[in-house]
Amino acid sequence: MSELTLEQVAEARGLYAPRVTWVHHWTPDLFSFRVERPQSFRFVSGEFVMIGLAQPDGKPLLRAYSIASPSWEEHLEFFSVKVQEGALTSRLQHLEVGDRILLGRKPTGTLVLDALEPGERLIMVGTGTGLAPFLSVLRDPETHERFGHIVVSHTVRQAEELAYRTFLEEEIRSDEIFGELLKDRFTYYPSVTRGEFHRKGRITDRIREGLFRQDLGLGIEARQTSRFMICGSIAFNKEMVEILTGWGLTEGTQSNPGQFVVERAFVG
Ligand code: A2P
Repeated sequence: MSELTLEQVAEARGLYAPRVTWVHHWTPDLFSFRVERPQSFRFVSGEFVMIGLAQPDGKPLLRAYSIASPSWEEHLEFFSVKVQEGALTSRLQHLEVGDRILLGRKPTGTLVLDALEPGERLIMVGTGTGLAPFLSVLRDPETHERFGHIVVSHTVRQAEELAYRTFLEEEIRSDEIFGELLKDRFTYYPSVTRGEFHRKGRITDRIREGLFRQDLGLGIEARQTSRFMICGSIAFNKEMVEILTGWGLTEGTQSNPGQFVVERAFVG
């Protein structure tokens, strides 16, 4: 029997098989790529979806990936680690423009605006590839209708792992749609834990010590007037939830909005 094509596997499993349109390698261990967005594929900014490749036996190998592009874009963008012995990312890292991937039909997730009560500012705190959903939420016009100020905090081990830094520092400010909207209303807050950088240390420590708040020019009352999205490793998420619940904040869901939401950054 001849091997099935990716399109045949997708068809048999009720998945999409969009083509890759762009690949960018940030470091030897991090890359991003885009695929065409199928016409009928809809999602809410901040959600994740299952993506993957076919195994030799024709079974799909799928992992959850946050969508890094906003819901109005014509493509879907993903930000991934490359794990050399990882079943999926060891193969995904070799993607080239024109290749196809498998894409699930049911995006879902907790990092959505509807799960948050109204507040003065939205503070998104992520580590590693946990930045991805925030890149989507940041470029959703609804985010700017709901919040007066937006903060994206990204912590990585080494400065070169600050993927999207140029985009967040410069490009988005000259963007046709968002440049004006974000002027004076957006703070990008990068930090590095193991290498040289102007802001060093874990974000959890900076928050506990009050440095994060001071850097943003906020008073202690900002704990109650801010809304938070958290996305990183399990240990990081756990620490952040401890901090936020310690301030008396509660986790929100779509049916019962709260002051913060959490999602883990998925590793392939
Ligand atoms: P650190 O270098 O001190 O471990 P990783 O690559 O392991 O996912 O980590 C990404 C970033 O998240 C690193 O800067 C790491 O800091 C930080 N980090 C990992 N665990 C925690 C945690 N429990 N609380 C705060 N930051 C964390």
